[in-house]
Amino acid sequence: MSESQSHLPVLVESLKPSDSLPFPLYVLLGDSLMLFRTQRDRLAAHDLEELLRAEKVELVTSGERSDAYLPLISDSVKSVVGMPGMPRERLGECYRRGLVAASHILANAETEAGYQCAENLTETMIELLDQCAHEYAATADLMKTDPNFAEHALQTSMLGMMLANAVGYPHVAQLGIGLLLHDLGEVALPREVRECRTQGERTRYESHPRLGAQLLAKAPWCSPKVVDIVLNHHERLDGSGFPGGCKGSDLSPAARIAAIVEAYDEGVSGSPRAESRKNFAVLQELLVRDAGKFDPDYLKAFVRLQAARAEA
Ligand SMILES: [Fe+2]
Ligand SMILES: [Fe+2]
Repeated sequence: MSESQSHLPVLVESLKPSDSLPFPLYVLLGDSLMLFRTQRDRLAAHDLEELLRAEKVELVTSGERSDAYLPLISDSVKSVVGMPGMPRERLGECYRRGLVAASHILANAETEAGYQCAENLTETMIELLDQCAHEYAATADLMKTDPNFAEHALQTSMLGMMLANAVGYPHVAQLGIGLLLHDLGEVALPREVRECRTQGERTRYESHPRLGAQLLAKAPWCSPKVVDIVLNHHERLDGSGFPGGCKGSDLSPAARIAAIVEAYDEGVSGSPRAESRKNFAVLQELLVRDAGKFDPDYLKAFVRLQAARAEA
């Protein structure tokens, strides 16, 4: 790290929950500098626990967002593939590093470097998910219940790629990238808009898929399949979704997979619009309350994956 970037070291042991720090926060692990959090006002208690658990952590902060560390973050994610240990341990490490990468990807999604980082993360996850093909339970257990954008992005991406494998959908990498970026248009919305307490707030919230797709469609390196997922992740088979109210054959297989895993992860993780619910309750909602909204074959395959998790 060059002096000109003027990061300030922070002694992790001296921090208290709710401490106010300039964001974004980076964590120095050996030679790698990784983004820890991009956009919180204060340090949450669970952030602090996570930092104190990690060994040899130095926290640095500049108060400025930068894409200068994207290559470092990409390399740090890719290096997990060659690490010693059981496949599920590598997948766990990939998930931890992937959370850092996902927050950085969302902060830089419209840049080529940000997109490249999403490609690298997806490629690494595909390789590790392949090695853990029969470990759905272990993979799903990595997932947190916290309505943080990076966690929701990474979790829907991993769930989507697992469902894609289960149903034989071929474009797994584009699906993974599309799900990492699916809420790009929502990231900039204030929390009160995302709570949708008034009709005006709901209308603004419902424009987020279009906003995200518009941002990405301008980028020549972005696959149209990725834009399709970002635009259509809230569309429903019966036409009750948004922003376009598309239905049936208008929706691509990727958009149908995205709709299921997104609704599921939002249900179990919670959102500004609803409390989190237990895994079984969310599946029941998707199957019964929301009957007709999701592709029935893909939904059955997803429920089978979840059932395998319950049995493991
Ligand atoms: Fe989402
Ligand atoms: Fe969304």
